[in-house]
Amino acid sequence: MLKDKKGKEIWEYFFEKPKKNYNKYMFEMVNYPDHLMFDNEEVDSYKGKWNEFFNNENDIYLEIGCGSGNFTVKNAEEFLDRNYIALELRFKRLVLGARKAEKRGLKNILFIRKRGETILDFFAENEVSGVYINFPDPWEGEEHKRVISEGLFDKLDVILKENGKLFFKTDHQQYYEDVLELVNGLDKYEVVYHTDDLHNSEKASENIRTEFEQMFLSKHNMNIKYIEILKK
Ligand SMILES: C[S@@+](CC[C@H](N)C(=O)[O-])C[C@H]1O[C@@H](n2cnc3c(N)ncnc32)[C@H](O)[C@@H]1O
Repeated sequence: MLKDKKGKEIWEYFFEKPKKNYNKYMFEMVNYPDHLMFDNEEVDSYKGKWNEFFNNENDIYLEIGCGSGNFTVKNAEEFLDRNYIALELRFKRLVLGARKAEKRGLKNILFIRKRGETILDFFAENEVSGVYINFPDPWEGEEHKRVISEGLFDKLDVILKENGKLFFKTDHQQYYEDVLELVNGLDKYEVVYHTDDLHNSEKASENIRTEFEQMFLSKHNMNIKYIEILKK
């Protein structure tokens, strides 16, 4: 297998030991150097310097768990004066996202293979203007594993600007109610908008659909719940 300029084989970025079989998309990760970053050292080296990466002073918006990137790609197309960073773990979804960004010639979007829990490693104080979390796993029975937790807000205390917002969409009634309750108990955050039927709300016209949202709507005709949380 080919080694890169660091003398590493691609699997070494993701696994401790070599495996018998790899997901074929792992090998494609290297094909999108302008739109996809997976080397932790490189990602972390941009902490506090993402505006240098994007070569402008525009606001930075973060999506955690972006799937194959439809939501962030559409946002990046619509708002060319904003920068978008989208985190995802799965190789195929990252490659599909980066492919869309490249096809559209977007210069304001980057996909990164990182866990949402690690944001303090690569964002500095007040570096992020808004955060999107769409249809995260509700972890029924293991709710402590949810991405939206008190721990996430502790991190947003650092990286999210004052008056920045966290935007949350879900199909899961209990996750929706739990987040409303969680934020109610936080001094620095305030729910400024919520609806249990986004598609029949005043926000419907500006809503950008994600892949999961599209699937829930077409297959299950489900109400989508939505919350906007302001950092005070
Ligand atoms: C249910 S999918 C939703 C994908 C997309 N947001 C959408 O609405 O179509 C949740 C995604 O989050 C990713 N994910 C799960 N845990 C994560 C974590 N800790 N950090 C980043 N991404 C995560 C999964 O790989 C998966 O693609």
